[in-house]
Order: sequence, then C-alpha cells, then structure tokens
Amino acid sequence: MHGIIATWRMAKEGIELAEGLLKDGETSGKAIEAAIRAVEDFPYYKSVGYGGLPNEEQVVELDAGYMDGDTMSVGAIGAIKDFANPISIAKKLSEEKVNNVLVGAGAEKYAHEFKFEEKEMLTDRAKAFYRKKKKELSQELKPYDGHDTVGMVCLDNSGTVTAATSTSGLFMKRSGRVGDSPIVGSGFYADSEVGGATATGLGEDLMKGCISYEIVRLMKEGLTPQEACEKAVNDLDKKLKEKRGAAGDLSVVAMNNKGEFGCATNIAGFSFSVATEELEPTVYLVTRQEDGHCTFEVASQEWLEEYMRVRMAPVEE
Ligand code: GLY
Repeated sequence: MHGIIATWRMAKEGIELAEGLLKDGETSGKAIEAAIRAVEDFPYYKSVGYGGLPNEEQVVELDAGYMDGDTMSVGAIGAIKDFANPISIAKKLSEEKVNNVLVGAGAEKYAHEFKFEEKEMLTDRAKAFYRKKKKELSQELKPYDGHDTVGMVCLDNSGTVTAATSTSGLFMKRSGRVGDSPIVGSGFYADSEVGGATATGLGEDLMKGCISYEIVRLMKEGLTPQEACEKAVNDLDKKLKEKRGAAGDLSVVAMNNKGEFGCATNIAGFSFSVATEELEPTVYLVTRQEDGHCTFEVASQEWLEEYMRVRMAPVEE
C-alpha cells in the first residue's frame, strides 16, 4: 500500500506527482520531497516558497521540516532566505549526525556550501500584497493569525512513512520568527511503525500542543487517523480557550501505515489533498460539526476553478 496526504488544495499537483512516483516504486522520502517542491515552485501560492509573503521588513523568510519514520531522522531549517527549495535543504540536514536544525545565516551558509539553488524569493506580486497590507495596517503591523502551510505525510510500498512541511510563515511576522513548521512534533511527525501527521494554522498555538506528535501517539494507542486528528485538535482547542480565552487556527491531516487517513480543524474553509493506491488524487473540503466531529466531501469542479481564479487574480492595491 502507498499513499500521500497534504494540507490544503494547493498540494494537489504535488500529490499527483508523488502518486505517480510511488506507483513506480519510488521511496517515500523522494516522493514527498518532489511533492513539496512542486508547491514551493508555484508562484501563486502566497504562503509557501517562491511567491511566499514577506515578514514586516519585506523579506521572505522560509521554514521547512522533514522526518523519516524508519530512522527517526529529522532535519529542519528556520528563517532562511533566498533559497528556492527549503524542503530539500531540510531533507539533506536529516542525513547529518548532528546540526540537524539550522536557522538564519547558518542555514544559508549550509545551503550555499551544498550548492542548493539560490533564488530571490520575493515576487512583484508578494510586494504588492505587502504594500496593500501596509496601507490597511497604517497604525501597526500585525501578523495575520492563520496560515496555509503545506504539510504532507507519505507512505511508500515498503512501509516507510515520512512527514514534511514548507512555509513562508505568518505574513508580516517579525524578522527571525519561527512557527511550528520546522519544529518536530509540532509541525510534523512520522513513525513508520504507526503513521504520520502534519499541521497548518497558527504556529504559536500548534506548538503548545505538540500536535503532530500527539496525533501519532494517539494512533499508536489504537485510534484511527480520523479519531486521533479530531481528539488532538479538539483537546488543544478546548485547553487554549480555557487557559487563554482563544485558540488560533488549528488544522491537521494524518495517515497511518496502512494508508488510512484523517483530518480535523477548528476553522471553516480547511481543505486537504490525498491519493492512495485505491484513491485517485482528490481534494476534500472539511466541515467541522458543532460537536467537534469533522466530515469531508469531495471538492466540486466549480470550487476548484474558483480556488485557482482567486489565487491568480491581480492584486488590487
Ligand atoms: N503554521 C505556520 C506558521 O505558523 O508559521
């Protein structure tokens, strides 16, 4: 059995690519890297890779993480700028014995040394979004508090589970701010004996629940991916509201080592993309019920077309 699941509709083309690779016997690690790179390279997704929105100083700082569930190897980078594919740098770092997590100038030095592609990641379109936001927030620059990180979990035919993330983090974040995405256990987690999970939303709150590790732990205890996702999101959402009066956006997806998958969210509008040996690449829209249970239905052609139309529409300043 093989399969791959990812946060948001934006992962669909990456999922299609990875599904073809997995079918041909490619490893989970190579398939997930290829899938995330496809999202990073697409200029109209404004929260990942090229075209990602900048921080408050108009610099695009990127985070990424990777975990191999066979070996527990982890690699991650935070606040790196001017490199095309953060996921490939994170994956390479997972092969090192030490120095697995690098940030800022150190991460850039490493990426340069290993000849990863250097690229100016701030596009004219992202500059226009920045100018528009700055005008709207003429008093104070505040980071947008939800976020569309791409996170994926991948299972190959030999039973290896990997998990990976890539993001430009919060729009208008402070320089040097790092969210959950490069933090193992928060943004992503994989254990080939169980499965994997990954998260999107407000990093500062996702981290408080180590939510990806929590989902894998719950699956290990016998919960299905759907039950584990719902329990992890609902418990954290409740706790944050009790202790802090509010919870940020929390959305997750998971897949176990049998290719069964699940999702959960505390917001309206969450979508995910998934493909398995038995299911062609499909985008699902998630609805959270009042009792916290999440259901999902296949996105219509109309919804998919509207999604792309909005993403590619000119920025009105
Ligand atoms: N979840 C992505 C971030 O908070 O940066």
